[in-house]
Amino acid sequence: MDLFADQPPWHEPLDDGAVILRRFAFATAAELLATIAQVAAQSPFRQMVTPGGYTMSVAMTSCGPLGWTSSRSGYRYAHHDPLTGKPWPEMPPAFRTLCDDAARAAGYPDFQPDACLINRYAPGAKLSLHQDKDEPDLRAPIVSVSLGLPAVFQWGGLKRSDPLKRLLLEHGDVVVWGGPSRLYYHGVQPLKPGFHPDTGPWRYNLTFRQAGDGE
Ligand code: SIN
Ligand code: FE2
Repeated sequence: MDLFADQPPWHEPLDDGAVILRRFAFATAAELLATIAQVAAQSPFRQMVTPGGYTMSVAMTSCGPLGWTSSRSGYRYAHHDPLTGKPWPEMPPAFRTLCDDAARAAGYPDFQPDACLINRYAPGAKLSLHQDKDEPDLRAPIVSVSLGLPAVFQWGGLKRSDPLKRLLLEHGDVVVWGGPSRLYYHGVQPLKPGFHPDTGPWRYNLTFRQAGDGE
């Protein structure tokens, strides 16, 4: 049970250029989850292979003009889903509205995302410490929405060896980072098994990015 469910969202400063908007997506979570299912019906969740040959524990899909893919030949953003051969599903208006509202609340009113990556975490799934650096224009922030089971988010600094903060991200929490912290290392610790009334055994995460040059 979320003891803060009845509270309005609140801001939790995280770092220079970074903030956690606690429960910001709580009120729209059911709509966002139904919309994830619609996107996944067109471009299914899949576990991608890294260039190093490792199968990622997180299952992913994308929507919007650009989607992120990984394979033995590298990471990249592409206009087509390599699994279906078709363009990625369109960015749903419900996603875009939430992202615009969150970006504005975090101080990035001009953010124009052209990609939304959707991650699905099963128990044990994790995301190793990494930087989001496949995007050409690093002036644009990242907007990250957590839904379903809680996860421990690791938040570091510009160097991989910088000390890590560990923050619990819960259903409806939105993290926005940009400016001085745009390239900060971050990751997700292995998901603890559990059951969430809206997502069952899973955690979902949406990350909105400007992955093209903004033209
Ligand atoms: C990411 O780093 O791209 C996703 C983070 C998360 O799942 O919270
Ligand atoms: Fe990331």
